[in-house]
Amino acid sequence: MAASASADPLSVTAVAASPDISVTNTQAHLTQLQSIATANGGNRGTGRPGYAASIGYVKGKLDAAGWVTSVQSFSTSSGTSSNLVAEWPAGDPDHVVMLGGHLDSVANGAGINDNGSGSAGVLESALAYAASGQSAKNRLRVAFWGAEELGLLGSKHYMSTLPTADKDKIEVYLNVDMIGSPNPGYFVYDDNPAGNGARDELTSWYTSKGIPWEYIDVQGRSDHAAFRSYGIPTAGIFSGAETLKTSSQAQKWGGTAGRAFDPCYHSSCDTTANINATSLDRGADLIGHMLWLYAAKDYGTTPAPSGNLLENPGFESGAVSWTGTSGPITNNSGRPARTGTWKAWLGGNGSTSTETVQQGVSIPSTATSATLSFWLRTDTAESGSTAYDTLKVQLVDGASTSTLATYSNVGANATWTQKSFDVTAYRGRTVSVKLLLTEDSSLQTSFVVDDTSLATS
Ligand code: PHE
Ligand code: ZN
Ligand code: ZN
Ligand code: CA
Repeated sequence: MAASASADPLSVTAVAASPDISVTNTQAHLTQLQSIATANGGNRGTGRPGYAASIGYVKGKLDAAGWVTSVQSFSTSSGTSSNLVAEWPAGDPDHVVMLGGHLDSVANGAGINDNGSGSAGVLESALAYAASGQSAKNRLRVAFWGAEELGLLGSKHYMSTLPTADKDKIEVYLNVDMIGSPNPGYFVYDDNPAGNGARDELTSWYTSKGIPWEYIDVQGRSDHAAFRSYGIPTAGIFSGAETLKTSSQAQKWGGTAGRAFDPCYHSSCDTTANINATSLDRGADLIGHMLWLYAAKDYGTTPAPSGNLLENPGFESGAVSWTGTSGPITNNSGRPARTGTWKAWLGGNGSTSTETVQQGVSIPSTATSATLSFWLRTDTAESGSTAYDTLKVQLVDGASTSTLATYSNVGANATWTQKSFDVTAYRGRTVSVKLLLTEDSSLQTSFVVDDTSLATS
């Protein structure tokens, strides 16, 4: 019965609903890009002030929404161009999901359909994601490419300068170039179908909305080409350019047969008047759908290394892997090791002194938890309740130091005790685990440390 089925809580699966990306906001971005072109000689072409102003506009919006932006400049025969790349600061950095399109126009027009439309759709979806409160499982990255019109230069530059390890983290690249054509078609492309579910996600969305779609072979004519060449799954959407709409296409999509999908393609009439609002609306909604879907996709988790991240944790190899002042790491029998014969014996001088023992470690971002622990044995010639001699346990990350604990002569009783600290907050960071001894001018205190561990699970 329907009533009992809908009442069964176990049948409910939490799936983030696809967003409705605002076409009004998307159009407002196009109006801004048009104003930028109008104020700068009518175009947003490479090397022209309208391009730099376009980058400034998009960057300002993304920055204000909490996206972490970076601008990558490169030179072309028409002057300097740049890519704007933005990352959402959450999600697993080992699984990167990318969406992008080119932001440049040709030299003789404002480029509002080509490719203000794709840029505005990606921008508005990114802003909507930021406002949604979704928690991304994967790392989202959006890109606004420069100099596409000069031969896909920006996306090629990005891929050719990205370190291999970073390229290998990109799970998919979705390209958006022209989605508001005035005589629109609904095309889906995917030049490397092997292992590529993205194309199917695109076509399923159209089908679910009752919108007829067609595959098109775009032969690497846009910015997905550099990703595809590297072997990254790519797909894209496109509402058509200079090609004429056939009569069968006009039958299923409406519009005018025998007329170009975009009669103003690469022309000075590619203005805000050259946009079909329905096509723009559908394209923006589909970009939003893909962003939400891929943000949550399960690519599995990279297993965090388990066991001890510290090298030579019981000091049995002497000072190997540890740095600091020479001397504390010793097999001197004046103080016992907890295990083996070596340990870090800090202090015991009975004179003014400072000693350090430290080791750098990278705590994987994929760890569920991280714990720092060690054994400590303290004996002293001091008495009373004043801390004259101290041992600090610190985590140092560049210029910032946090002190996890401070031990002193007070209460020293020459017995081994294990100390441990939750350092989960340091996931994804490279820190130095540091022991810092300070002894005053008389009466020794010996802090003996052994069997250290920085363990993740
Ligand atoms: N990249 C082409 C341009 O900007 C347009 C295009 C997009 C062509 C997608 C084919 C597929 O001029
Ligand atoms: Zn173009
Ligand atoms: Zn284009
Ligand atoms: Ca030891």
